[in-house]
Amino acid sequence: METRVRPADEAAIEEAAALLRAGALVAFPTETVYGLGGDATNDRAVAEIFAAKGRPSFNPLISHVPDQAAAEAEAAFNPTARALAARFWPGPLTLVLPRRAESRISLLACAGLPTVALRVPRHPVAQRLLRRVGRPVAAPSANPSGAVSPTTAAHVREGLNGRVALILDAGPCPVGVESSVLGFDAADRPRLLRPGGVTVEEIEAAVGPLAASGELERPESPGQLASHYAPRAALRLDATAVEADEALLAFGPDAPTGARAVLNLSPTGDLTEAAANLFAYLRALDATGAPRIAVSPIPKAGLGRAINDRLRRAAAPRA
Ligand code: TXA
Ligand code: MG
Repeated sequence: METRVRPADEAAIEEAAALLRAGALVAFPTETVYGLGGDATNDRAVAEIFAAKGRPSFNPLISHVPDQAAAEAEAAFNPTARALAARFWPGPLTLVLPRRAESRISLLACAGLPTVALRVPRHPVAQRLLRRVGRPVAAPSANPSGAVSPTTAAHVREGLNGRVALILDAGPCPVGVESSVLGFDAADRPRLLRPGGVTVEEIEAAVGPLAASGELERPESPGQLASHYAPRAALRLDATAVEADEALLAFGPDAPTGARAVLNLSPTGDLTEAAANLFAYLRALDATGAPRIAVSPIPKAGLGRAINDRLRRAAAPRA
């Protein structure tokens, strides 16, 4: 299959919607990262997503819908979920909720779980596409399993050329890290399953404290697996100096000097800018061929939580 890349104008979005409705895969921009989309109600299309990514197992996927009403058709919302949706949708938040009996979403997309992960993205291209498709669209990040998530159409093509019919190109993704994933415990208290584009501080300001989620014995959300986003180079985190064989992923104004290659996520120390640059800079430093990448310390609050989470996974020993 030949993969085509089209600027995401109306005609291209129309074509993408037709392809999705016919069961083909389309990569499309969201505010977080590019998604590898397939019709979430079509088991074959969902299976093709797993095949295209080379996923080792059938992890549950996020289904994307254009608005809250469409989400309510698929899942049972509790009052906290509704408050979160009202505050953060459209946006980089995914809610894991009990699947409705009437839901048309493929059981394969939910990996056989009784729950479904739903997200209303705010990127205008994703919004227009979802409205045209008229069905939920399952979309993990548009990269081969284990690789760094794509924040440009070129990244998608590098990893998935020949595996996806069309890539809608709308330039770099503004947020740059994936959505925050929230589930609920038996008492409907929200629990963080994956830190992401909406910060814990913002979530807690909206609905109060999150139930503890830190020390899970076994990951209940595969996004919690340690080695999940891995560049080729080994990563050394919280580095305050660089060694001779290291490239440097720097942050802030006081970055160490002397590295063979340096990219600064945000010279001013802005976490929003750093999140947007994270995956592209990891790729670029990996492409220099440096065997190791040293990473400057990055504050652990706000978006820094998602950034540190992704960096820890990239640094973890390969599964
Ligand atoms: O920003 C994003 O969320 C991107 C863009 C394309 O929207 N999508 C994305 O999808 O990152 P994916 O499939 O790579 O991540 C799905 C996450 C994983 O952490 C998965 O374990 C969790 O959502 N998840 C999905 N369904 C779940 C469920 N029923 N129970 C628990 N976790 C679930
Ligand atoms: Mg991913």
